[in-house]
Amino acid sequence: MSSRKFLLAANWKMNPPPAAALENAHGDRSKNPYHPHADIDVVVFPTFLDLQRCIDAGLIVGAQCGHPEATGAHTGDVSMAMLKTAGCRYVLCGHSERRKDHHETDADVAAQAIAALEQKIHPIICIGETLEEREKGQAQIIVKRQLKGLPLESDVTIAYEPVWAIGTGKTATPAQAQEMHAFIRSHLPEDRRESTRILYGGSMKAENAEALLKQKDIDGGLIGGASLKPEEFGKIVEVAERLSAFHLLHP
Ligand code: PGA
Repeated sequence: MSSRKFLLAANWKMNPPPAAALENAHGDRSKNPYHPHADIDVVVFPTFLDLQRCIDAGLIVGAQCGHPEATGAHTGDVSMAMLKTAGCRYVLCGHSERRKDHHETDADVAAQAIAALEQKIHPIICIGETLEEREKGQAQIIVKRQLKGLPLESDVTIAYEPVWAIGTGKTATPAQAQEMHAFIRSHLPEDRRESTRILYGGSMKAENAEALLKQKDIDGGLIGGASLKPEEFGKIVEVAERLSAFHLLHP
């Protein structure tokens, strides 16, 4: 039996939390899809400024990025150590928007993941090729390069996010995603190969969640746009809950 419980990660990017996510903190939690669930893991990634109110509302939170050094002259940054103190249990490392907007390199991403592990924060490490790289037939080469140097022998999660599918409405087909997930899994250290979760990200929504989550090597989703819409996100949560027992039994 697999230990790869589905993980749905709601990446809210530079947007306020949906009002519905902050409701029912002490009421009926089953009415709020963003709240912790029994059979699947649901984690939200608000801006730094919204972390505390999400924690107060009973949500499991992660940060969208973190600096590897504990303190120092890094204007605008927040360290993994600080995120730990603030109550973050997860952190995204190397999201493609960070790689693009803030020029984060593979080495930076690896340093972030190592620092997160040292603070006992679970890193979700994002990798994925651009459209140009895919069209040149280089998708696997890029992903392999991005995996190199990562602390894959530790308890981490990988998020495969083809850059061309992020926020574009274009999703990788389930077969394309499965092929890359299997490729990624084959490059994990042997003793971590079956236990490491690999999430898919890039225009995952209610409409395509079932086909994607049915793939054997897809262990959840890193969801941007659709996670800001409570009803849409609720439907993805329902799909994951429904498929969860099957996924655990058929790794
Ligand atoms: P999207 O974003 O679901 O809006 O494509 C995913 C992500 O960037 O993590």
